Amino acid sequence: TGPQLYQQNCAFCHGENGQGRVGAFPPLAGHTTELIKTPEGRAHLINTLLFGMQGPVRVKGNTYNGVMPAFGQLTDEQIATVLNYILNAWGNDKLLPRDHRPITPAEVANARSVSGSRPTPQQVGNNRARINVP
Ligand code: HEM
Repeated sequence: TGPQLYQQNCAFCHGENGQGRVGAFPPLAGHTTELIKTPEGRAHLINTLLFGMQGPVRVKGNTYNGVMPAFGQLTDEQIATVLNYILNAWGNDKLLPRDHRPITPAEVANARSVSGSRPTPQQVGNNRARINVP
């Protein structure tokens, strides 16, 4: 389930309640909804989980420059489940766009299978740096 996957794989860094830790791990509470509202946000969320992320990023006025490990060992189903969890947990559901549709395992499979163009964590970070969030 979403809560189980989150507790087992993410909470150690991003916090039990998605609050993150200033300067070390970006918050997910009140933030994944900022990403999903951008044109590139959906793909970025999926790529971060599949391929990891590295490089400076600004979230809610704080800079993070850490390494997010890849979780490509999780199944497409598990990645979709944990992404939908972090998009809805901690009150995030109230911040989602009205036309939001859940991330599907097929979308994850599709991102995974663009073989030959698997981004490195650095490339995921570079792409992220160009996404404008508040
Ligand atoms: C970044 C989710 C596990 C450390 C991110 C971002 C998301 C995310 C969505 C992108 C934030 C953005 O671009 O604004 C998750 C989920 C996890 C997980 C769902 C579990 C499956 C972890 C773990 C660590 C970690 C275990 C620590 C070992 C980080 C760091 C960043 C980040 C440092 C920022 C990377 C950078 O500075 O470029 N995470 N994360 N995450 N995560 Fe995670």
